[in-house]
Amino acid sequence: MNLKDIDLLDADRFVRMEHHEMFTVLREESPLFWHDHPDGLGFWNVVKHADVRHVNRDNELFSSEAGGISIENYAEEPDNGAHVDQRGLNMLYTDPPKHTRYRRLVNKGFTPRMIGLLEQFLANRTKLIVDNVIEQGEADFVGDLAAELPLQAIAEIMGVPQEDRHLLFKWSNDLIGTDDPEFKGDPLVAAMELYSYTHELAAQRGIDPQDDIITKLINAEIEGDRLTETELDLFMMLLAVAGNETTRNATSHGMYALLTHPEQFALLQSDIDTYIDSAVDEIIRWATPVLHFRRTTTAPTELLGKEIQKGSRVVIWYISANRDEEVFDDPFTFDITRSPNDHIAFGGGGAHYCLGANLARAELRLIFREIVERIPDMRLAGEPDYLRSNFIGGIKRLPVIWTPGPKS
Ligand code: HEM
Repeated sequence: MNLKDIDLLDADRFVRMEHHEMFTVLREESPLFWHDHPDGLGFWNVVKHADVRHVNRDNELFSSEAGGISIENYAEEPDNGAHVDQRGLNMLYTDPPKHTRYRRLVNKGFTPRMIGLLEQFLANRTKLIVDNVIEQGEADFVGDLAAELPLQAIAEIMGVPQEDRHLLFKWSNDLIGTDDPEFKGDPLVAAMELYSYTHELAAQRGIDPQDDIITKLINAEIEGDRLTETELDLFMMLLAVAGNETTRNATSHGMYALLTHPEQFALLQSDIDTYIDSAVDEIIRWATPVLHFRRTTTAPTELLGKEIQKGSRVVIWYISANRDEEVFDDPFTFDITRSPNDHIAFGGGGAHYCLGANLARAELRLIFREIVERIPDMRLAGEPDYLRSNFIGGIKRLPVIWTPGPKS
């Protein structure tokens, strides 16, 4: 493959897992790569670990608010609403100091202490998730095992009753899977349903406050003002998507990696206490569920010796940074003992560093420990079905089998 074969907008190439080959060529030959776009404007691509980190940390020069976080530009004139413009309203689409004010509202729900308190609840839920399938001896790993814990955790934190968690699952899938022909859901409808659900829940919490994020958000003030209805809606949407799509896919990629590297699975089983922490980070590096984010330059600058104009799109590819040969020995080797493991799957630092990193690690530790201890002979019963997307590295289905066992 050479540079003229690179096409980072073709989601099919990500389904076929060809992106790793494209990024290997880019890291070697063109670490700051100019890519054409059908809109005629084109965009820059940053693919090396150090450079992704550099862009990620400079929130002043590389803005999340100016052009949003997706490669696609916003239309000059608002269209029929199909592409909701969240800039300046959703935390992920704001820059400091506004971002700092938003982030303070939810930070407390995600500290190591809060996650520690939640961990016993999540440990019990993990047992039940495995109980639900263990007698069957077969499952779709994604739907039956990987999806449940992130969903239950985020529902609990947000204040969504557990019996409604499948609504969150559907909405977040419909919001993210827009490039995949299998997802027939309309993202606009999903957003509207999520908003009206949020309004009902907010009204209930107004009467009956609870120890959850929605209660905090409806009572929060930013510089004397309450959050507007739209700000509240977008907070709930961000948490639903970010809390679900990422950890679920890390879990599925991780299981597939363990099943296709049986010596690594055996090593993890040989001493779970010793290996679980490094295994979880290697799984996160290997999966890198958020493939990229986009920034927009707020002033002319120079990057890797090239002049970048103000207002340029700059796309930072975490999936490439986490296979950077200059940082990782044998980056294409899945090694649960990897140390150091300086992956940047949660972001390369800076204001937007993943709010849920502690939670995601806790969830992954719990589910893999439970599987190792209770379903040690899990095997593949088919190949993974990958999500068609150049934004989220997703697995839609992963059939697995094992010797049926008893409930706990
Ligand atoms: C393996 C799992 C996860 C991965 C790989 C991941 C990845 C990321 C990345 C790459 C960012 C952007 C960082 C940046 O721009 O510098 C981010 C931000 C964020 N993540 Fe995660 N995430 C994961 C799990 C979670 C979970 C479980 C939650 C729970 C709510 C969550 C909530 C968020 C939020 C709210 C933001 C935006 C933070 C901000 O704008 O300040 N993430 N995540």
